[in-house]
Parts: sequence; C-alpha cells; structure tokens
Amino acid sequence: SNPSLLILAGDGIGPEVMGEVVKIIDWYGEKRDLKFDVSHDLVGGAAYDAHGTPLTDETMARAQDADAVLLGAVGGPKYDVLDFSVKPERGLLRLRKEMDLFSNLRPAQCFDALADFSSLKKDVVAGLDIMIVRELTSGVYFGEPRGIFTEGNERVGINTQRYTESEIARVARSAFELARKRGNKVCSMEKANVMESGILWREVVTEIHAKEYADVELSHMYADAGAMQLCRWPKQFDVIVTDNLFGDLLSDAAAMLTGSLGMLPSASLGAPMANGRPKALYEPVHGSAPDIAGQGKANPIACILSFAMALRYSFDEGEEATRLESAIEKVLADGVRTADLLGPEGGSPVSTSEMGDKIVEALNAS
Ligand code: NAI
Ligand code: MG
Repeated sequence: SNPSLLILAGDGIGPEVMGEVVKIIDWYGEKRDLKFDVSHDLVGGAAYDAHGTPLTDETMARAQDADAVLLGAVGGPKYDVLDFSVKPERGLLRLRKEMDLFSNLRPAQCFDALADFSSLKKDVVAGLDIMIVRELTSGVYFGEPRGIFTEGNERVGINTQRYTESEIARVARSAFELARKRGNKVCSMEKANVMESGILWREVVTEIHAKEYADVELSHMYADAGAMQLCRWPKQFDVIVTDNLFGDLLSDAAAMLTGSLGMLPSASLGAPMANGRPKALYEPVHGSAPDIAGQGKANPIACILSFAMALRYSFDEGEEATRLESAIEKVLADGVRTADLLGPEGGSPVSTSEMGDKIVEALNAS
C-alpha cells in the first residue's frame, strides 16, 4: 500500500498554503507514480471550533499511525481569549510531545534568485544549504529544579541544563543520518569549555561517531564561536547539531541569513517506527498570518519545501525532493514573486495559487 500522509492544515493561511501542497502531491501521483494515501483532519482553532479541543484523541491517534504528518499553522486573534488548556498551540505541542519529536530540523537554504534579500553580502549566502538539528525535548527548558525561589531576602530564578547520555545519543544519530543524505559533514556545537552538559555532549557525540558513523566528517565548535562562523561564512557547514537552547538561537539566526519567513520549512523527527521511518511532523516555520489570511497573498513555498523535506527524510525520495526544490528555484529565477518576496521597489505579486501553479508548470518542464 502507499505511504500515508496526514494533512492538518490548521488556521489562517494554513489551509491556503496547504492547498498548494496538495497540487504538488497530486502531481507526484500522476506524473511520477509516487502515490500517497492522503487524509485530512483538524488541528488548532479549526479543531476547537468543531470539537471544543485543539486536537482530538482520534486525530492524535491518526498522527501516531501516519508515515508523515504535514501541518499548516495554528492560531489567530479569534482564539486569543481562550483558556490556556484549549489554545490552538496546545494542539501542536501535544503532537510534538506525544510523538516524542526530539530532533528539530531547520534548514537555511538560499535560493540564488533571493540572495539580494539577505542582510549579508550576496556571495556569503548565494547557494547556501545548511541544516541545523536542534534537540527539542530536553535541556534547560525542561530540566529540574526550576522555579523562582527565595534565598535569604531576595528571589532567585533557576533553570537546570540537564542532558542524559541517551538524549544526546539519539539526536546525534539523527544528525549523522541526515548528514549521510546531504554533504556528509556534522559540526557539533556546545560549550564544553564552561558547561558539564557540554563536556558530556562532546564525549557522547564523539563516541557515537567513532562507533557508528566514522564515514561522516565530524567537527566540534563552541556555540558562541559557531554563531560568529555562521554569520561570517555559513557555507563551511553542512549539518550542525546542538542542544535545545543553543539550537533555538542558532536556528533563528541562520533562518535570517536567507530572507523571508514565507520561505522557511522545518521538520521534527522522533524514533523510528516499525517500518523504519521516523515519526515525523513537517511544517513551515511561519504562523497563521492573520493579517493576510483569506486574501490569497500567502507565500506557499515554506509549506511546499516542508513537503520536499518529507520526500527526502521520510520517504527516501531525495532525487524527487531535489526536483521540487529545483522547480521552486526556477520559478524564483523567472522573477515570480508573492508579495512577501518583493523588495521596497515593489513589482506585481502573484497570488498563493498562481505561485503553486507556476511550480507545477516548472515540475512539468523538469
Ligand atoms: P506569523 O508567522 O503568522 O506572521 C508574521 C508576519 O509574517 C506577518 O506579517 C505575516 O503576514 C508574515 N507571513 C508569515 N507567513 C507568511 C507567508 N507564508 N507568506 C507571506 N507572509 C507571511 O507570526 P505572528 O503574526 O507572530 O503570529 C500569528 C499567529 O500565528 C498567532 O496566533 C501565533 O500564535 C501563530 N503562530 C503559529 C505558529 C505555528 O503554527 N507553528 C508559529 C508562529 C506563530
Ligand atoms: Mg525561537
């Protein structure tokens, strides 16, 4: 049977950009005989409106069973007044937590046609293609003890950076596996100079590398130096693996090397399922963009690139993923732009669905 895809389009521009992904999925089924069993369900505000909860148990179970989940975006002003326990984001958090998605993949890719968009010099970013792997379920955001306590006559705020060996090992493996599908190079970032968790991080990554991934090139860098190198000459990297906190900062910084929020995909991966595929959720980095929702202005590329990641990392269709990315590159090189990709000089933007159609046309010509 065909691999299964669960689509959770969500709120705001989520359904609009996902509509364009469905065109691409249909194209693969018709023209490349790459077929998926696609099903749709609700998440976020849309699920709240229908069921009074941002993610039903039934939807959660379907997500656990799917070969990959594609998510649009959740949230919107309409839901800001809701109680914390039923806010749209809780649906997304529940998916990440119950699927145990410990490895967050944030690529920073620069399409040549958009290199002028970067705040960096064009030759620093043109053709850039790096991947930041951020540990997502442990570290200082979760470690105990945490809280605000009283010590003597003042308050003290405490968080604890805590990593077990197995938590480090599993995210390291996920980075090495990715590297083998890309440029075969991993740079691990921590602060082993000043942190115990950093010392252990470096040791465990080094051990896993020696035992299981000696064919991959491994280097280590202190995370602060890594931040500098990322801005100075990002093309030196292929895969960067780092902890939750450093990954949060480094991936946001790396994202901005390349320009618009409308261009950024992501993946969150967990442990392998019985069929060998990792538990996986793919989603654009952007939110539901209520300011442009319902106007046909949203850029669907972030969501389409998230599907390209699914092709590469869930379905081992790296060549087809590259085909899709090249089609997007071609459309951008032809000057096709949604409104978010127009500079201050302006120009005439295409709509969400026109962008999707152009990408399908480019696929037809590929
Ligand atoms: P946002 O990412 O939705 O929008 C920020 C700005 O970028 C807006 O001006 C928007 O129009 C623009 N933008 C975003 N995606 C775009 C696209 N594909 N094409 C063109 N322009 C795009 O972030 P914001 O405004 O902070 O949050 C809006 C809502 O989305 C909130 O309810 C927030 O909680 C939710 N949100 C959801 C996320 C998710 O589902 N993973 C992530 C971030 C925010
Ligand atoms: Mg962040």
